[in-house]
Amino acid sequence: MAKVWYLGHSCLRFELDGKSIITDPFIRPNPLAEDIDYDALQADYILVSHGHHDHVADLLDLAESTQATVIANFELTSWVEKHGYANVFGMNIGGTAGFGSLGFKMTNAVHSSSFADGSYAGNPGGFVVTSSEKCIYFAGDTALTRDMTLIADEFNLDLAILPVGDVFTMNATDACTAAELVKCNKVMGIHYDTFPPIRIDHSAAQNIFKENGKELHLLPIGTALEF
Ligand code: NI
Ligand code: MN
Repeated sequence: MAKVWYLGHSCLRFELDGKSIITDPFIRPNPLAEDIDYDALQADYILVSHGHHDHVADLLDLAESTQATVIANFELTSWVEKHGYANVFGMNIGGTAGFGSLGFKMTNAVHSSSFADGSYAGNPGGFVVTSSEKCIYFAGDTALTRDMTLIADEFNLDLAILPVGDVFTMNATDACTAAELVKCNKVMGIHYDTFPPIRIDHSAAQNIFKENGKELHLLPIGTALEF
């Protein structure tokens, strides 16, 4: 059994093969995540999908406090290094970073990416995380794209983590199609409710999945899904 905790927005914490992996740290600026004990967070790896503020707001601070390896595209890890944190692993779309039994393959995302000051943050991406037990797709911020079929060609996913908030990313209907393309019926939603434009009707979103023989998990922040 593997476990993933929802820390709000696109921020998750996985326990896989005895390692702790955090994605897209955005906790302290998120009022919905105020019950998360930020100072107690531990991580071996921090995965970052792109440079937008709602994905990197806590990155530099959390990297420093956890001493985790920051894994992201080259432009983003260069930015982290420029800010004085050296434990990074820069990569790019299509590449895989291997750390013991864990693998992180960077996938395409159809989105944009820049830092809060407007400077270039490389291309947006997602990750397929492989471990000795489970295989997970963390899509990042993305539109629906047929490139996702390549993920199903290569991996047998146990969980797909997909944005469902609409406006800046896929909505639940497109995410349900994405689940079809990646051939994974167990989906966890991210990137919804945090801001007014991405507030969603939970039961309507979940019904779309149910009608298509799939599960959409919309976890209360601070709770975990075992899979
Ligand atoms: Ni974004
Ligand atoms: Mn975003």
